[in-house]
Amino acid sequence: MSIISKDISKAIQLLTAEDIVAIPTETVYGLAGNIYSEKAIKSIFETKKRPFFNPLIVHIPSIDQLSDIVAYIPEKAQLLAEAFWPGPITLVLKKKAIIPDLITGGKDTVAVRVPNHPTTLELLNRLNFPLAAPSANPFSSISPTTALHVETYFKNNIRMVLDGGACTSGIESTIIGFENDEPIIYRLGSTAIEAIEAVVGKIEIKNTVTEAPKQKTIPDAPGMLARHYAPKTKTVLTENVQETLDLYKNKRIGLITFQSEINHKIIEVQIALSKSGDLEESASNLYDILHQLDNMHLDVIIAEKLPDYGLGKSINDRLTRATK
Ligand code: TXA
Ligand code: MG
Repeated sequence: MSIISKDISKAIQLLTAEDIVAIPTETVYGLAGNIYSEKAIKSIFETKKRPFFNPLIVHIPSIDQLSDIVAYIPEKAQLLAEAFWPGPITLVLKKKAIIPDLITGGKDTVAVRVPNHPTTLELLNRLNFPLAAPSANPFSSISPTTALHVETYFKNNIRMVLDGGACTSGIESTIIGFENDEPIIYRLGSTAIEAIEAVVGKIEIKNTVTEAPKQKTIPDAPGMLARHYAPKTKTVLTENVQETLDLYKNKRIGLITFQSEINHKIIEVQIALSKSGDLEESASNLYDILHQLDNMHLDVIIAEKLPDYGLGKSINDRLTRATK
């Protein structure tokens, strides 16, 4: 029997009973539990097989609850929250003592966001506790953007996926930390860096793949571990598709292009992220296309690098991690 359901009241019942439920957001589906329930939070880590040092994002229904969670809000954090919430920006701020160490991996900061999805906003409004929710995928595999992706991963491990349709943004939230009250991007994501800079000025990116490719220590945002968001199939990112195709002559090839169709008889399947060259559309299609190709038992997935601005930059970041 399917665990996918639209029944918000049932999700409330399960979450209130310290169980975990997969929930829709505008970015990716999350695996959610009551932040104050040790049982629920442990079960999130166990279900995902995620190491305990990798902290979770706290989801709240509105900016009004931010001061319940964090001890201090820098001016630029306030500006970003006002500009982008509800929406795909996560702020990493000094935590209040009430936030359990299990949520933060022992750090004195907590990641928090207001997701922009009507179903989950209603759920959060009806609950009297915030939800911790990492992406609803086994550790380091491709994030889920449909209820079916989650069910395929976890049908034997969880009791319910709250169905909110396909995620519209399609890649994870942009994570912003603060050093000396100045914002720093810890993870590129669904909010384009240019949009953020329009609110707070020039912003530094830390912990990207290019700056810290093979980290042995715990990174500031462990989602920035080099290998992440990865298909099981060998994946290659390239700026020159024709040349790369020639390298895999006798292989079963799946090709992901930005917008064009490539004429080359050795390609088994090819999919364009956005035929009209739209970066938002590309982001919303990315993980579903990776899921599809990964299920086809190909020898290699070749992905074309996108233009390196706006959401193209965030997509390139994810594709780079998929190749590690
Ligand atoms: O879009 C999203 O952000 C989705 C949806 C479900 O909200 N969530 C998500 O969670 O991507 P997750 O756990 O897959 O990624 C959260 C990232 C992790 O890389 C984690 O290390 C980082 O946020 N993080 C959480 N708390 C942190 C903290 N206190 N300091 C630095 N990084 C933190
Ligand atoms: Mg994740």
